[in-house]
Amino acid sequence: MPVPSPPTLRQPRLVQGVRFARSQKRFFEKAAHLGDVFQVNFQRRRWNMVTHPDAIKEVFTASPEALHAGKGNDILATALGEHSVLILDEDEHMRQRKLLLPSFHGERLEAQAATIQRIAEREVERMPRDGSFAMRDHSQAIALEVILEIVLGTEATGTEHDVLSSQAKAMLDRMGRPFSLLLPGLLGPRHRLVKRMHRPVVDPFDESLFRLIAERRLAPDLEERNDILSMLLTARDEEGRPMTDREVRDELVTLIVAGHETTATALAWVFERLAHTEGSTEALHQAVADGDDEYVTTVVQETLRLRPVLDVVVRQVNRPVEIAGYSFQPEEMVVPCIHLVHRREDVYPDPLEFRPSRWKDTKPGTYTWIPFGGGVRRCIGASFAMAEMEIVMKAVARAGVLEPVGEDEREVQRFITSSPSRGGELRFAI
Ligand code: HEM
Repeated sequence: MPVPSPPTLRQPRLVQGVRFARSQKRFFEKAAHLGDVFQVNFQRRRWNMVTHPDAIKEVFTASPEALHAGKGNDILATALGEHSVLILDEDEHMRQRKLLLPSFHGERLEAQAATIQRIAEREVERMPRDGSFAMRDHSQAIALEVILEIVLGTEATGTEHDVLSSQAKAMLDRMGRPFSLLLPGLLGPRHRLVKRMHRPVVDPFDESLFRLIAERRLAPDLEERNDILSMLLTARDEEGRPMTDREVRDELVTLIVAGHETTATALAWVFERLAHTEGSTEALHQAVADGDDEYVTTVVQETLRLRPVLDVVVRQVNRPVEIAGYSFQPEEMVVPCIHLVHRREDVYPDPLEFRPSRWKDTKPGTYTWIPFGGGVRRCIGASFAMAEMEIVMKAVARAGVLEPVGEDEREVQRFITSSPSRGGELRFAI
């Protein structure tokens, strides 16, 4: 017989809410003694934290009708739109996901790599050689340019591209402001006040996107183009239906939002961790000079383990489901905790140590290394993001050896990501 609910953190909801807002990582860490699955209660819905790989496997392989990730991501609906692959569930989700997946196929990645390299090299030249800088400023510029060029296929030198770029930046800046999720969390993402708050940044961007979609539909070379927008316009679902303009708009914004801040933050952590770990930046420099791609990959894997960008992935229970011997009821949340799984001593010896060598000849486990989530909701851009990170790391390493500036950086919350407190402060060694 399944047990009704896992051990619960016994503290008033308000106290839990304040502790979560102060530092969600510390909050989860302090409650982890309750067990491999435990319950915290700081929102309208209870969160059942899942931290054991076997239980995470049960979550990621559960039927998409039982656990809804889209409902769990609903707070993002104001900007992403109702057709976003992140917001939808079940058949509708699968339709959008299947339409998007070919754009991220391996062969495409090869063509996209040259674009990433060009953008990375240009930005590396802009990094100061005679003083300190925050890596995140540069990784954000790279990630935004990469995602815009690859997703929208606009020319980096054109006016249209510059307008789209500044509109995207305005929207992302607004979403990244402290407490930007507070109002949608309290009122819901479809409340008119929340929509009004987003309108000044979302409306102008939407207008440009719809214009671009209309123009691109008429492009004579539409079928041959490599950008994701063109691919979405020619894509057909299993019944032969194309995507509507609204669907295309929602997926473009989703890719820009999902692919920008995440990759930029992960890159800032790569260099922050390397610089603060004795001998590591020199090792990267040497590996790149020797063409040792394995070392570069292990650094990415280890960074995403120890500093995973997102602490959790969220599923809302849609019909009663049993996980790890507990039964969960509709409306509750089931939450695989990336942060806690990645720090399990029984999986990763000395879990707090940044040690890329732990990945040498070792493939990351499907349910023990989950920076990109899992199951039918696993990040569509995972291979793309890893490739982008590696290309940027090589471009930086070719420019010189980076040194740390100041102490190890704290993890601070920015929008939904966990960022280095000073943005990855570094300087090139002279
Ligand atoms: C280091 C960079 C990135 C990290 C850490 C990351 C992480 C994640 C995570 C944790 C999820 C949720 C998975 C789940 O619920 O199980 C996700 C979903 C998603 N990501 Fe990423 N992501 C990154 C980069 C990207 C990029 C570059 C793109 C696209 C260009 C992208 C597009 C998406 C999309 C479309 C989804 C929704 C998938 C679905 O619901 O079916 N991500 N990502």
